[in-house]
Amino acid sequence: MSFEKKILCIGAGYVGGPTMAMIAKKCPQYQIKVVDINPARIDAWNSNELPIYEPGLKEIVENVRGKNLFFGTDIDESIKEADIIFVSVNTPTKTFGFGAGKASDLQYIEKTARNILAASDRGKIVVEKSTLPVRTAESMERILNGNDKGMRFQIVSNPEFLAEGTAISDLENPDRVLIGGHPSEEGLAAVEEITKIYANWVPREKIITTNLWSSELSKLTANAFLAQRVSSINSISALCEKTGANVDEIANAIGKDSRIGSKFLKASIGFGGSCFKKDILNLVYLCEHYNLPEVADYWENVVKINEWQTTRSVKRVLRSLFNTITGKKIAVFGFAFKADTNDTRESPAHLVVRELLDERAIPVITDYKALPDAKRDLSDVLDKVQFTEDPYEAAKDAHAILLCTEWKQFAALDWQKIYDLMSKPALVFDGRNILDGEKLKKLGFEFMSIGKA
Ligand code: UDX
Ligand code: ADP
Repeated sequence: MSFEKKILCIGAGYVGGPTMAMIAKKCPQYQIKVVDINPARIDAWNSNELPIYEPGLKEIVENVRGKNLFFGTDIDESIKEADIIFVSVNTPTKTFGFGAGKASDLQYIEKTARNILAASDRGKIVVEKSTLPVRTAESMERILNGNDKGMRFQIVSNPEFLAEGTAISDLENPDRVLIGGHPSEEGLAAVEEITKIYANWVPREKIITTNLWSSELSKLTANAFLAQRVSSINSISALCEKTGANVDEIANAIGKDSRIGSKFLKASIGFGGSCFKKDILNLVYLCEHYNLPEVADYWENVVKINEWQTTRSVKRVLRSLFNTITGKKIAVFGFAFKADTNDTRESPAHLVVRELLDERAIPVITDYKALPDAKRDLSDVLDKVQFTEDPYEAAKDAHAILLCTEWKQFAALDWQKIYDLMSKPALVFDGRNILDGEKLKKLGFEFMSIGKA
């Protein structure tokens, strides 16, 4: 069968994998190929155990894999064949040199651009899918169009707004699709090419087209605004604890104001994930670069409040356990940065475990999907941490439970049984406000949660 278009995605991660699976499902007329430099990851995409957990993803992949969706490591050959290339490689925070700790590390992006240039024998549309600092497309263009073979590449920005845990429904029914390009004739034609892909299932009025820089900066801005809401409600949670106000009641009351809205007002032990911290720090770096120190400070505080929220939670637990947890078993319920994902990047649970270790406690971690990633993150301290898939086993002889991830299974556990297994006073700290505190207190637990006196 011949396909109308050949689409390639470089980078088979949390963004590239699900996005291409959805395009393949919605567009049987296109051939979709996803490549990665990591052969283990590609093997996993071709197996029954996908490398990432996302509700509904496996069913889609199993339906289209081998028909119009393919995973491989033959990067050069795939580049040569492709008409359109999505770039979805990682852009972590730089750990060295200028901008270390804030700026995005663009080495994978640059390598990918050079790779595309070397393997191509004609110009193509290159789509930035990864979240990037504003004006990255300019560097991509310099690399790609600085060739002497007469090839012209068009760069388009199409940031992905999916959230993990809800990736499939977000992709199937997005609030909007954003596509940015140059206002030139070729630029507009490239934007229209990408629009046509999404128009296979997304209503045209939800497809927004902008200039390149607006598109790049919109993604950073969206994440900064969402993270700011979480840090704002988390800052108020601390005031609630001092005053007897209840943060869930406040969130409900202010969320009813249509100007504020009800989403992203759930107080928590802290936000995590691959985007929020990285993108805000990137924004901070950009503001510093453009000599806007006040704006940089403003956004940096959103990240600082987040870390403070996690740390102060651990301190509350410590105080309740007579200011010493040395040698005490402490159960950590959930290591993923949120429910319904195996992703642990920037998870608040990670900071919690490190702080427990600083106090020489014995953390016992349980999670429904994230234990393999947890073991990788804690590989330097494996002899000091325990892992178990069984929450009852984690609770056995523990002096406290710190609930860090809102897996709904935790609320449905047999808490009487847990109480009987634990050391007394059995303390539960609900870092996600998903448990029924009154019920737990009746069972005999000492109970604490975020933003409630
Ligand atoms: C986010 C953006 O939502 C998405 O558009 C972007 O593409 C990538 O970054 P994601 O990191 O997958 O997605 O998760 P999200 O649902 O936004 O949650 C981020 C963090 O904030 C999680 O740790 C979550 O538990 C926390 N959170 C979220 C809260 O603590 N309270 C809330 O009310 C909402
Ligand atoms: P995201 O959450 O943004 O999708 P991930 O880290 O999950 O980020 O995925 C990025 C993927 O990109 C990784 O699987 C990584 O191996 C891959 N990658 C990085 N650089 C290259 C490259 N030059 N060529 C192909 N794949 C790459």
